[in-house]
Amino acid sequence: MEFPFDLTPVLGDRFCVVDQHLRPAGRPGPTHRGDLQQQLRTVIDELGKASAKAQGLPAPVTSAARMESNRHVLYILRDPGGAAHRPPRGAVIGFLKVGYKKLFLLDRTGVHVESEPLCVLDFYIHESLQRHGHGRALFQHMLQSERVDPRRLAIDRPSQKLLGFLRKHYGLDDPIPQVNNFVIFEGFFSNRPVLREEAEPPWPFNLRPFVRRDGRTEPPAGQTDAPPPPRRASSLGR
Ligand code: ACO
Repeated sequence: MEFPFDLTPVLGDRFCVVDQHLRPAGRPGPTHRGDLQQQLRTVIDELGKASAKAQGLPAPVTSAARMESNRHVLYILRDPGGAAHRPPRGAVIGFLKVGYKKLFLLDRTGVHVESEPLCVLDFYIHESLQRHGHGRALFQHMLQSERVDPRRLAIDRPSQKLLGFLRKHYGLDDPIPQVNNFVIFEGFFSNRPVLREEAEPPWPFNLRPFVRRDGRTEPPAGQTDAPPPPRRASSLGR
C-alpha cells in the first residue's frame, strides 16, 4: 500500500509501534511536526479501511480516532524500499492491532471466568503480499514485544484466513467454545490469574452454547441461529 509521502519519518524502518498518542515512527515525547502526525493518521485510516474491505465489514474497526480513544497498540509493517525498489518511498505491508480487554469466557468445563487477556483485534496484510510470511513476521514481533504466549491470546471474531494462520504457525486448532465473538484455544487458562470465577454471571453470559459432537457450537436456546452480523465494533470495548 503506497502513499504520496515519504514513509520513513512517519513509520521508521520496518516495524512501527503506535499507541494512543499517535507518535510518528513511535518516537517517545511530543512531536513538533504536525504534518508527520497527520500523515500517520492517514496511514492508519487507510489501513483500517483496507482491512474492513478485506473482511467484508461495513465500517473500519481501526482508525486514528479510535486509536486515540482506546488503549490499543498498533504494529505496522512496512517495506522500507530502497534504490532497487519502486516506489523509493517505501510501502506499507500490513498491520496488527492488539489490546487488553475484560471478558467473560467459558473454560472447557463450562465455568465462566472473568479474565483480561491480550486480544487480537484487527489484522491485515495487503492482498498482493498475503501468504509470503509477512503476517507471521508481524505476529512474531507483536508476541515478542508483548511477551505473550499465543495460547494466551483471545481473538476477536477471527476470519477463516486468520484461523488457518493460527493453526499453521502456532498449532492453535482446538478452540474452546464461547458465547461471545472471541475465540480462545487450549492452554488459554493454564496458570492464568483469573479476575473472578462465576457460577452464574449476568445475562447474556449465563446462556451456555450447546456443544455438538463435531465440536462446533450452537447458540443457546432463545438466541437466533443466524450467523452473527459482520460487525466487530460491538466487541471493541471503550
Ligand atoms: N486463504 C486461506 N488461508 C490463508 C490465506 C488465504 N487467502 N492467506 C493466509 N492464510 C493463512 C494460511 O494458513 C497460510 O498458510 P498456507 O499458505 O500454507 O495455506 C498462512 O496464513 C500464511 O501465513 P503468512 O504468509 O504469514 O500470513 P499472511 O501474510 O497472509 O497474513 C492474514 C495472514 C493477516 C490473515 C492475511 O491473510 C490477511 O490479511 N487476510 C485478510 C484479512 C483478514 O482476514 N484478517 C483477519 C481478520 S480477523 C481479526 O483481525 C481478529
